[in-house]
Amino acid sequence: MRVTTSQIREMKKKGERITMITAYDYSIAKLVDEAGVEMILVGDSLGMVVLGYESTLPVTIEEMLHHTKAVTRGAKNALVVGDMPFMTYHTSIPEAVRNAGRFLQEANAQAVKLEGGMHMAETVRHIVNCGIPVMGHIGLTPQSINQLGGFKVQGKTSNAAASLLADAKALEEAGAFAVVLECIPAPLSKLISERIAIPTIGIGAGVNCDGQVQVVSDLIGLFSDFVPKHAKQYARLGELIRGAVGQYIEEVKSNAFPTAKESFAMDERILENV
Ligand code: KIV
Repeated sequence: MRVTTSQIREMKKKGERITMITAYDYSIAKLVDEAGVEMILVGDSLGMVVLGYESTLPVTIEEMLHHTKAVTRGAKNALVVGDMPFMTYHTSIPEAVRNAGRFLQEANAQAVKLEGGMHMAETVRHIVNCGIPVMGHIGLTPQSINQLGGFKVQGKTSNAAASLLADAKALEEAGAFAVVLECIPAPLSKLISERIAIPTIGIGAGVNCDGQVQVVSDLIGLFSDFVPKHAKQYARLGELIRGAVGQYIEEVKSNAFPTAKESFAMDERILENV
């Protein structure tokens, strides 16, 4: 049975921690789903860790839909959240609603995520009113990187902290079913988590959030350009891949691969008249 947004909300009430991880393709989605995460985020981080862009800003809705379709084919149980890319929900509410709808209608996602707090609340309300569950995202919002002046921890002054709390409350009031808190000091995330009824999903926001989300490529050591401070590498797949491919190269050069086991035999008399 696929996880629902009501179950996610219920988990907060029961004090059960929620797990979420990103995935961008069929195979990884299938693996993380089988591992048992409650939610999979097809994050626009795919722009950096899969497509090699310098930021998430160039990611298009077509790229997001393409990857979300692959993920929903692989994930049978987790709730799949599609990340709305830059400029697909900013210019007008009707455009935001139409684009959010595409994630459910064309890519089979169960919810969408968008960045922004108070100033996005009206947009969230309209999307939710159309029956589309929305996850908010506040704190370090990478689509606003040019305005924030870099990948910095947010909410460190009392004004900034109050403003983040107001953002979280505005999203809750607009009908969001959960909110991502990215790069927020742990004591502030704790306070926000206590003051709102919807689950907070932290990334670089401490242990007192209701759940955690991580970029899968960081968690399994697949993306080596940089490892954020908030990420923990549970495996080093990059090293395994380099080692395996290095061995393959060596074996091809030395004629050790392929062996008879990886080849197809035939009756060689057939070749006598060829
Ligand atoms: O795009 C993404 O992967 C995200 C997470 C970091 C929350 O937005």
